[in-house]
Amino acid sequence: MRLLNASGCLDALTAPGVARSLDGFVTKTITPLPREGNAPPRIAETAYGMLNAIGLANPGRERFLAEALPQLRELGVPLWISVGGFVAADYAETCAALEDVEALELNLSCPNVDEAADSAAEIVAACRAVTALPLYAKLSAAHPDLSEVARAVAAAGADGLSLVNTLRGMALHPRTHEPVLARGQGGLSGPSLKPVALAAVHTCYAATKLPIVGMGGVAAGRDVVDLVACGARDVALGTILFSDPDAPTRVRVEIGDADLDEVFGTAHESAAVHA
Ligand SMILES: Cc1cc2nc3c(=O)[nH]c(=O)nc-3n(C[C@H](O)[C@H](O)[C@H](O)COP(=O)(O)O)c2cc1C
Repeated sequence: MRLLNASGCLDALTAPGVARSLDGFVTKTITPLPREGNAPPRIAETAYGMLNAIGLANPGRERFLAEALPQLRELGVPLWISVGGFVAADYAETCAALEDVEALELNLSCPNVDEAADSAAEIVAACRAVTALPLYAKLSAAHPDLSEVARAVAAAGADGLSLVNTLRGMALHPRTHEPVLARGQGGLSGPSLKPVALAAVHTCYAATKLPIVGMGGVAAGRDVVDLVACGARDVALGTILFSDPDAPTRVRVEIGDADLDEVFGTAHESAAVHA
């Protein structure tokens, strides 16, 4: 089991020590052109978790390749590059420009930008055609038939899945009832996502048997063990990193000597459990 950060939840260049405490660093999603992201406020705390509507703010592909990537390589941590876009060619061009990294994670599921025009499977196929690097398809649990999407991206050449991205949510000012986020809605992350993540990992492992990076509400060693039991090979920490940057080290201590190889997939053993 490798412990990673979830995309967009850690800036490795400002917190290199946290990045080095992980088994791999996943970048913020990179799009072909620079993006300012959405107008503020773009973060809201709720009693159930965090809402964000960052909108994929990032320096764009050219500046990422020229400036950030060489600095990230100096950290000596395996790099996972999160790739985004609006049509399949956007994703494929970024994938084609990358080499000597651990894996590419295709963000097929950001709730804070307009949905990509091409299907998840078309995007994966376009990327598969231009790179031999491991390709992880990051899916949303909101899809009405997640196992069908998982099978489609597997058939298109994905080597693994990342599950889950945030789910669309909303918070209102208590008196005015105006949305707190300038964009109105945003992506819900944190503890309330954990049951959603367990179900998504369980469903997609049963559907594909692909390696899965499980994430969503992981805050403690127990959450890692549960995701592994559902079929996650690797696990990522997201929202917890904002309040507890030492979480990777703490979580490892909490996992202790639990035998994760033995735990792997055990949630599938009961015949009564349906994917
Ligand atoms: C502030 C913020 C920014 C995020 N940015 C990205 C992103 O750029 N690309 C992406 O694939 N997911 C992004 N995510 C989603 C996370 O990677 C992760 O899938 C989600 O937050 C669930 O994990 P968590 O509950 O542990 O935070 C972002 C999440 C947050 C909270």
